[in-house]
Amino acid sequence: MSKILIRGAKVLGGEPQDVLIDGESIEAVGTGLSAEGATVVEAEGKILLPGLVDLHTHLREPGREDSETVLTGTKAAAVGGFTAVHAMANTFPVADTAGVVEQVWRLGKESGYCDVQPVGAVTVGLEGKKLAELGAMHDSAAGVKVFSDDGKCVDDAVIMRRALEYVKAFDGVVAQHAQEPRLTEGAQMNEGVVSSELGLGGWPAVAEESIIARDVLLAAHVGSRVHICHLSTAGSVEIVRWAKSKGWNVTAEVTPHHLLLTDELVRTYNPVYKVNPPLRTEADVMALREALADGTIDCVATDHAPHPHEDKDCEWAAAAMGMVGLETALSVVQQTMVDSGLLDWAGVADRMSFRPAAIGRLEGHGRPVSAGEPANLTLVDPAYRGAVDPSGFASRSRNTPYEGRELPGRVTHTWLRGRATVVDGNLA
Ligand code: DOR
Ligand code: ZN
Ligand code: ZN
Repeated sequence: MSKILIRGAKVLGGEPQDVLIDGESIEAVGTGLSAEGATVVEAEGKILLPGLVDLHTHLREPGREDSETVLTGTKAAAVGGFTAVHAMANTFPVADTAGVVEQVWRLGKESGYCDVQPVGAVTVGLEGKKLAELGAMHDSAAGVKVFSDDGKCVDDAVIMRRALEYVKAFDGVVAQHAQEPRLTEGAQMNEGVVSSELGLGGWPAVAEESIIARDVLLAAHVGSRVHICHLSTAGSVEIVRWAKSKGWNVTAEVTPHHLLLTDELVRTYNPVYKVNPPLRTEADVMALREALADGTIDCVATDHAPHPHEDKDCEWAAAAMGMVGLETALSVVQQTMVDSGLLDWAGVADRMSFRPAAIGRLEGHGRPVSAGEPANLTLVDPAYRGAVDPSGFASRSRNTPYEGRELPGRVTHTWLRGRATVVDGNLA
């Protein structure tokens, strides 16, 4: 039986409607649709969203399968309501050739839980010296359109300019991890009151902002598209706002953790809070929320960064940077943006599905919930309340900053082209 009737869901938070899935597509959206021959999913009180799209996921395969694989990462994505993720290039080997991006793309196809769109490296080995074969990665089966050295900044202005020029040929985009390397040497946390009290090396906001300012100017100069990864400061928001006011082709993302957590948490010295870019101040968090609400920041991206416990359960200075995020992203966005009144569910659909898919030029995702569209869908119970329990994660890693924290909302179902990947909150 290939028909599914989702009954009485608030589509994008609107009035309750029925959605009928037939095979891989949505057949009808309306009220009082016939359930004949269909499996019924009662969705009263639940929100139906287009399948979420992540522009920024570290799946770690090839090379660090001890922290995540494409299979475990796509399972975690499905649990979080995602139907497509962009797999970052900082693997071992680096995804800087057609061969490696095709390998990741093939593993994604085999996983079946979530579509995987590989990101290609901008420079060979993420070394920032020599442009990688962007054209070959684009022309490969993986069809790469997003390029990033994430984890590292493309700090050489000439290399950045060339990359921006190169991707214009196929409407690609360069996603920059904005971090001026000299200004962040030895940095351990946000530079500010807390870092000076703790005596930890500070990571100044200007290290991020100076690169963003340079790159929006470069993108404007060559008439190309730049995307800024994980904005973390109020100043970064101002620069992106200014660039957009000029009509330049600039987009930006924010992570769930930068919408909720601050550098005050570093006082615990718990490395679970160590992340790049670092957690900033309350004022930065508020500016990021406002910017996501007004559209200055285009989308939420998880920067899901799994690490094995031996790389996180150690002293602060030695710990790896990053936190897992796929399975908690929507709950954090509900708490910080929806329950706070800054964004409605249609806004969440926009910032977590429509816009990230559009930035990545991803086909078949980020589509409206209407007849004829691929049935990539996420059903959310916004009334659910529960403490985060990492022992139940589908991800291979457990480095969440939310362990034991009560967060609102839960993904009850995810459908990837009509196939349920999550049912009643569990992997199908
Ligand atoms: O915290 C981070 N972790 N930031 C990055 O830019 C890279 C990522 C990782 O790969 O672990
Ligand atoms: Zn990054
Ligand atoms: Zn990242």
